[in-house]
Amino acid sequence: MKNILAIETTCDETAAAVTADGWLVKSNIISSQVQLHRRYGGVVPEIASRAHIEWLNRLVDDALDKARCTTADLDAIAVAHCPGLVGCLIVGVAAAKAVAFALGKPLIGINHVHGHLYGGVLADAPESRPQEPKFPALGLVVSGGHTSLFHLESFVDIRRLGATIDDALGEAYDKTAALLGLGYPGGAALEKLARGGNPLAVDFPVSLLGSDSLDFSYSGLKTAVRYHLFGSGREQRTIDHLSQQQLADVAASFQRAALRPIGVKLRRALQRHDYRALLVGGGVAANHALRKTVSDAAAEFQVPVWIPAMPFCTDNAAMLGGLAFHRLQAGMTDALNLSAIATV
Ligand code: KG4
Ligand code: ZN
Repeated sequence: MKNILAIETTCDETAAAVTADGWLVKSNIISSQVQLHRRYGGVVPEIASRAHIEWLNRLVDDALDKARCTTADLDAIAVAHCPGLVGCLIVGVAAAKAVAFALGKPLIGINHVHGHLYGGVLADAPESRPQEPKFPALGLVVSGGHTSLFHLESFVDIRRLGATIDDALGEAYDKTAALLGLGYPGGAALEKLARGGNPLAVDFPVSLLGSDSLDFSYSGLKTAVRYHLFGSGREQRTIDHLSQQQLADVAASFQRAALRPIGVKLRRALQRHDYRALLVGGGVAANHALRKTVSDAAAEFQVPVWIPAMPFCTDNAAMLGGLAFHRLQAGMTDALNLSAIATV
């Protein structure tokens, strides 16, 4: 079996994992920094980079221990080198280079967003191993930083078809959750609140952009929710007078407006090409309404869906190790001058 040690430090999760042969997750250690950033209502890049420096060595040791591996058992070192907060990326990339250099093993840089497409292919036990997807495949990543569609000729040939032109879907969830007083990051709490609400209660705008666009836009929806709750201009108000039911109605109506473009754009892309698989990933893929939106669209085109088990939706290193296996097989390794790149 080919063992890969993978390192993830793109944002506010420090993570290390050992994967084998591109699907078996031998260990998947994640240390979330959410407690460090909560009081600021968002990720503070400097704090995030420092925490990565403090935590990463221990996480790598834990990942090896949990996988019952020594460094001699490793075949390659993978790291997310783009996109992300540059100070955070540098920590992971420097660590991966050091390990690769010290062990004389190949280094493989992975695009974090492409990594999210791989979450549905992973398993932590042989009996739960998913089938291999067929290509060409359509990919959808819905996370806190990205909302993108991809065309995959293979796992090493990935092209972006469309992306958000402003906020990401997860960001829209988090900002709306903050307006509703649900704390940070509030995506999962908003989903829970929406369960008791009426999705037709408020007619929030659905942004579809041009009639053939595969891009997304969420900033208008976020502003519409703000105006609905607090008023605009001079007539500012608080939400204290709103009942729990009214808040749930806003959450459900937001969710309906936020997910509609996902269903529409998936159908547009599936219409254009004869896709043989749909790969979905990112933190918002943990959302049940999103999962239903995706499976409804795919069912119409009879395209099978790969969507991650819950632990592989949000940021993790196992997805990087899984994808890196395909690059290793294809000889697509990187030199020790691999750069950390903030935007791609
Ligand atoms: O993939 P991820 O861990 O980080 C990025 O790469 O951005 O995604 C985190 C995002 C956050 O915005 C979080 O609120 C959202 O995923 N999220 C959810 C749910 N669980 C996590 N959004 C909606 N419903 C959920 N159940
Ligand atoms: Zn992510």
